[in-house]
Amino acid sequence: MTSYRTPILFALASWAIPLPGAAQVIPHGSYQLSCTHIMVHGDSLKASCRKLSGNHQMSTLDKVDACLNAIRQYGDIGNIDGNLVCLPDLPRPNPAFVFPKPETQLNQWIFSGKESPIHQHAWGLWAGLTQPVGTVDGAAVRAFETWTTPSSIIFRSAPQRPREDGKRGPIPRPTLDLHRPRQFQHGHRRPGKKAPLAPAAAPSAERPGAPSAAPDTAILVSVAYNPPAAQHAISHRLFYESTLKQLMAQGYTELPNFPTNAIAIKPVYKIIPKHSPRGIYTFPGWPGPDAAKPDTGFGEADWNSCVYVDTSRPLGISGNSNDIGCKGRTPANTFYLSDFIHSRVTHDNAAFLSAQLNRPVSAGDIAILIGMHVTTRENRMWTWQTYWWSANADRPFAPSSATIAGARPMAYLDSASRHYAMALAYSTVSPAQPITGGKNVGAPVYGYNPYLEAGFGPEVFADISRPINGTINANTGIQSNCMTCHNMAAYAPEPKPMMPYASDFYMSITDPIFDGTLRSDFSWTIVDMIVKTPAD
Ligand code: HEC
Repeated sequence: MTSYRTPILFALASWAIPLPGAAQVIPHGSYQLSCTHIMVHGDSLKASCRKLSGNHQMSTLDKVDACLNAIRQYGDIGNIDGNLVCLPDLPRPNPAFVFPKPETQLNQWIFSGKESPIHQHAWGLWAGLTQPVGTVDGAAVRAFETWTTPSSIIFRSAPQRPREDGKRGPIPRPTLDLHRPRQFQHGHRRPGKKAPLAPAAAPSAERPGAPSAAPDTAILVSVAYNPPAAQHAISHRLFYESTLKQLMAQGYTELPNFPTNAIAIKPVYKIIPKHSPRGIYTFPGWPGPDAAKPDTGFGEADWNSCVYVDTSRPLGISGNSNDIGCKGRTPANTFYLSDFIHSRVTHDNAAFLSAQLNRPVSAGDIAILIGMHVTTRENRMWTWQTYWWSANADRPFAPSSATIAGARPMAYLDSASRHYAMALAYSTVSPAQPITGGKNVGAPVYGYNPYLEAGFGPEVFADISRPINGTINANTGIQSNCMTCHNMAAYAPEPKPMMPYASDFYMSITDPIFDGTLRSDFSWTIVDMIVKTPAD
């Protein structure tokens, strides 16, 4: 063992050694940015941690040794609104589930068209994401609710963090950090050159949770990175334009790649006001793509399909279907909060959300998870899966299927997590083409989330079209593929035009369209949220 390696080994060891006494060492973690009076007593970590309100409270994390073991692959100990929480890269409730899966193994499935192990893998991710990892002021939080948002990443990338008391950044993160679907304002470019990537504004969009029989078509979204992805983005300062410019000047054509256990998510919520008329809240239930018209978006306002949530009781005998035509509520189309991954907005989180969304959100309002995009860096093209709430999760509509639903690992999903359908895009066409030098041929692979992409019409995809086999011209959201669109994500400094949004076709990762750009390792968030580096 040569001495130059010692610091690295030491750094790893300080995460991992579960020896008696070793826990007396203060463990690393982002909690140190916003907690003080940090102490280790036996197997417990105690600290005074700042809440969203600015107040501090004492918090204790028990079983520190087990935590250090769980976070050895670049996990974290975080401060979530004044609470210490142990944050692994991804919980693995099923010990037989392998994450990250070796790239060669995944590719063997992808390139030989083996769907069943891919379905199981993607459900294994879901089981991990939805697993409780701790509590925040007594309420259980699931893994995905604790992950780091881009604004926190940008704050933590700052060269000189302001002192703890003078701080202004969003470090003590709320469990709900939501915004309206972003209308692409590029940080480095005037907006307006490209169609906004958000469904056409629905009538009730300005009044989420409007108390009427009209289904609530408003959605709120968030983007978050798991601890290894966040750490990678922070340490390389990937959200700074100066970093990207410097890499380009040095001849790089892409960002330093994320580690294989990096995960990025985009959860989608609806907010149920705590006082819905008669306790009934109505939102559009995905009816499947069959009623969509060609060459137009098919957003929630066009679905003509309703689902009712009875919030007057937490539990009840749930239905299993949408109300097609929105004719009226019956037991068959009525559901309860226990059918949804949801959380009650706390007093402090309500103040935070009201400021961020510029509309009143009250303590006690209920945020229900309606869908979630998930991508992992397990392979070069990332793995792409998306989940959405489904009235009949055993027989969900396309782009999911009963076969996909049949692969859910029921033993590792609670009743709420079982209520979601899944669609995937592990390749852009079928059979899968090689990552470089392949052909744009085969059958299209459509993978989208009804609540996120279905509303996109041809205007979103107007800047690039490459018909599959020369004939299949996918031009709407219900003909889109996560991988095709995210493959286009690259920083394109002027005078190059911004990279276009794409629907579904095959494109080599070395396509000439990328000349003069810096590929962002499939991240659109980095390209769209890029910030000017503050003066060092
Ligand atoms: C037409 C282009 C397009 C399609 C199709 C698309 N996305 Fe995205 N995605 C974006 C853009 C742009 C952003 C960043 C802005 C934002 O937050 O919405 C984004 C953000 C994300 C993020 C947050 C992290 C990141 O990389 O920026 C995830 C995760 C994600 N998408 C997953 C998916 C999945 C899974 C699918 C398919 C089911 C999908 N996307 C389909 C354009 C697309």
